[in-house]
Amino acid sequence: MIIAVDGPVAAGKGTLARRIADIYKLDYLDTGALYRAVGLKLLQDKQDPADTAAAVTAARHVGEIALDDPALRDEKTGEAASVVAANEDVRAELLQYQRNFAKREKGAVLDGRDIGTVVCPDADVKLFVTASAEIRARRRFDELAAKGVETSFEAVLEDLQARDARDTGRGAAPLKKADDAHLLDTSKLDIEAAVNAACKIIDAA
Ligand code: DC
Repeated sequence: MIIAVDGPVAAGKGTLARRIADIYKLDYLDTGALYRAVGLKLLQDKQDPADTAAAVTAARHVGEIALDDPALRDEKTGEAASVVAANEDVRAELLQYQRNFAKREKGAVLDGRDIGTVVCPDADVKLFVTASAEIRARRRFDELAAKGVETSFEAVLEDLQARDARDTGRGAAPLKKADDAHLLDTSKLDIEAAVNAACKIIDAA
């Protein structure tokens, strides 16, 4: 059983994918963390995320990088991740890692941007999780405020819209709903309601 969960930033796909993995006893991979790990490794080694050779080498060794390092969540790491994510050679390198993960006997839930379209086009269930930009920005703003980060809602919304444009506009594996993905709009759903809606789709499949 392979479940693909894709969607834009802050749509709630990570929380949802973790809950699904827990309920159906599947392994879980946050594929965004792979791009972040490559970005972080480059920053730590004082290399330029736009340097293809350095980025590809880091991607080749992504299995050796801790995917639970809190520094993966930093804004700077996110910026570096978005640069390496636009690099086709890095994506090709990470593709194999993701496909191997999906082949696990236990089954897997992968979340990201291109799971249903590129990484696992034959996934048993594909969910495309989204919400309006304003709602996503509000959630992100509340998260940052809870962490004590000082910013404004407008700045968060602007940043999120810029990321959306980068994710959907890039040539390499752009963010896009697979034709056979189920659309799950979480704008008016809390996490429990979103989990219930996802379970209905999965059970029916
Ligand atoms: O979801 P996230 O913010 O952790 O993702 C980090 C970056 O990686 C972001 O720029 C989108 C990109 N990404 C991607 O291109 N493909 C994926 N499957 C997952 C993330």
